[in-house]
Amino acid sequence: MKLMIDSAVRDDVRAALGSGIVAGATTNPTLLRRAGVRAAEVPTLARQILDWGAGELHLQVYAADTAGMLADAAALIALDSARVLVKIPATPDGFRAAAQLVNQGARVTLTAVYTLRQALLAHSVGASYAAIYLGRMRDAGIDAMALAGQMQTLLNAQSSRVCILAASIRDPDEVTELALAGIGSATLPAAILARLPESEATAKAAATFGDDARAIHGDGAE
Ligand code: E4P
Repeated sequence: MKLMIDSAVRDDVRAALGSGIVAGATTNPTLLRRAGVRAAEVPTLARQILDWGAGELHLQVYAADTAGMLADAAALIALDSARVLVKIPATPDGFRAAAQLVNQGARVTLTAVYTLRQALLAHSVGASYAAIYLGRMRDAGIDAMALAGQMQTLLNAQSSRVCILAASIRDPDEVTELALAGIGSATLPAAILARLPESEATAKAAATFGDDARAIHGDGAE
């Protein structure tokens, strides 16, 4: 499963990319606002994230209409056409913009995908990713894990190359549940990413290794 960090906080993104477990980063206007990043600062932030080794950087358009989305997308792609993916909300305008961008050779992530129909349309327009919001689906009373599984089944049935990108993840165990359901990628907040390797048993084993390593480096006296 491909993991990404869902954040616009410089230190968090840098640390996540340095951890070796994430392949890239995702942002959106909400995350930028939360991190205090102005739109004018996004190109600088994006270049930093790319310099820190992000293999993929999913940057979201700001406009809500197709023409505006296409203009935003052109500026975002110009930052690094190989590694920047354009994130576009899965609205009617968004699908129109996505189809045009894919035809022009851009890679697109349809975001805020909540329904099977939208997942199918993501496939129809040739999107690379369909971002689904697990936690927000649950907030809305939807069985998010079941829906994610159905979306994956639908995409498989179409031999689709669209990769589901699970977002709005609030518990580390959701990541393995998603992986077992065949979901190909997930983007996580820094706090959840940090908890992924946690295991009390591993910590205990590592502490014992530490004690024994110190003992065998000593003079042999117990
Ligand atoms: C995704 O793009 C969103 O930024 C994020 O995953 C939302 O998470 P939340 O619903 O927990 O705020």
